[in-house]
Amino acid sequence: MAACTGKVLVIHGPNLNLLGKREPEIYGATTLDDINTLLNERASQLGLELSIVQTNHEGVMVDTIQQAQDNFACIIINPAAFTHYSIAVRDALAAVNVPAIEVHLSNIYRREEFRHHSVISPIAVGQIAGFGANGYLLALEAASCLIRSA
Ligand code: DQA
Repeated sequence: MAACTGKVLVIHGPNLNLLGKREPEIYGATTLDDINTLLNERASQLGLELSIVQTNHEGVMVDTIQQAQDNFACIIINPAAFTHYSIAVRDALAAVNVPAIEVHLSNIYRREEFRHHSVISPIAVGQIAGFGANGYLLALEAASCLIRSA
């Protein structure tokens, strides 16, 4: 069995450190710490080990993704604004041999036109958008299924 089996990397992108205070009518009142606590609780029920990173910096996100190779069985990523234009983040996800699940708190397709396009989706296994903080838990269930069926 590979050393990374059961290990999931969660990456939160720019401005998600402000959750709870940031546009709560769009993103909800749940803080990033709350989300991470929920994720860790569910991960231990599912027998998964989580590593959670938040960054406001594109290069740090690319470095973090590159380091996932051979170390994680799955990536759950909310690339936040990078979703819509970062070819560097997309290329990093495409370069590593680790399946990625894209998450958005809001339904990006019901919002401004510039949010309707994701450069990440074509290289992700799938996308979960519009379910608020619960979307991360749904992504964790999806990651668990992916890992078990691998
Ligand atoms: C987001 C949606 C993006 O358009 C936005 O830039 C974000 C958060 C979401 O989780 O709904 O920062 O990824």
